[in-house]
Amino acid sequence: MTPKDDGGALVELRGVGKSYGNIRALSGVDLSVRPGRVTCVLGDNGAGKSTLIKIISGLHRHTEGEFLAGGEPVSFSSPREALDRGIATVYQDLATVPLMPVWRNFFLGSELTRGPRPVRRLDIARMKRTADQELRAMGIVLDDLEQPLGTLSGGQRQSVAIARAVHFGARVLILDEPTAALGVRQSGVVLKYVAAARDRGLGVVFITHNPHHAYMVGDHFSVLRLGTMELSASRSEVGLEELTNHMAGGAELAALKHELAQVRGVDTGELPEESDLRTPAPTGAAGTSA
Ligand SMILES: Nc1ncnc2c1ncn2[C@@H]1O[C@H](COP(=O)(O)OP(=O)(O)OP(=O)(O)O)[C@@H](O)[C@H]1O
Ligand SMILES: [Mg+2]
Repeated sequence: MTPKDDGGALVELRGVGKSYGNIRALSGVDLSVRPGRVTCVLGDNGAGKSTLIKIISGLHRHTEGEFLAGGEPVSFSSPREALDRGIATVYQDLATVPLMPVWRNFFLGSELTRGPRPVRRLDIARMKRTADQELRAMGIVLDDLEQPLGTLSGGQRQSVAIARAVHFGARVLILDEPTAALGVRQSGVVLKYVAAARDRGLGVVFITHNPHHAYMVGDHFSVLRLGTMELSASRSEVGLEELTNHMAGGAELAALKHELAQVRGVDTGELPEESDLRTPAPTGAAGTSA
């Protein structure tokens, strides 16, 4: 069922900007999300990552530029409208009920029922069966779907949320820092399902401040800095090291190196020198790292 075409973008932003009153949180952002591809959005605190995904997921409207979904210009007034177009967002504070069983959480808000209206009841058997099938299809094997969701590890909970979005027909999956609170192993678990969603043909937007996580699964990398895109490059155009330097705010690190060089016990040897850094590329212009 994986779509072969990697042409038409599922979501396309052109010169998108957003002001909160007179605070300019985002400006001139270009981004495309394609089926079977992982687009990584990186950036430091306050760079505008959440603002960007809130626009795509229907929580905020953009105030400048063009936002196309399936080729049509859109401006969502609610997350429901985004969902109707197959754009699903998994937030870090997952909207789940930890004390309820896994299968119940899988269907939360979209419970399956059976029987005619006045005596309609939850179709528990079908929900359990379907949740089990969908989780297995993503390679997620849980011993017991009756266990409360809260007993799963952070990585497993994220995975259930990803499988849920896939089941309910998402074509675009937005993940807001899914690995931020996780250790190495659990992050690995989540990255595996990011790849599984990609392989099922979804367009994934992976928000992270970790260039290593991004580079493990990413096809395209967009680095936000103070609300503008300072790097937009495909995998063949940027290496992990360059991405890390961009992410770290190369110029700031170089300045930090200078400052920390005087401090005993702080090893600044591996920090970039100012002379190592190219001037930030203008939007859209990909750096070459070969
Ligand atoms: N509702 C709001 N009203 C006013 N300013 C806002 C609002 N939301 C965000 N901002 C501002 O917009 C800028 C970008 O914020 P945003 O939350 O998008 O950054 P971020 O990259 O997600 O940061 P973090 O890594 O901390 O989550 C910040 O300067 C922030 O203070
Ligand atoms: Mg944020």
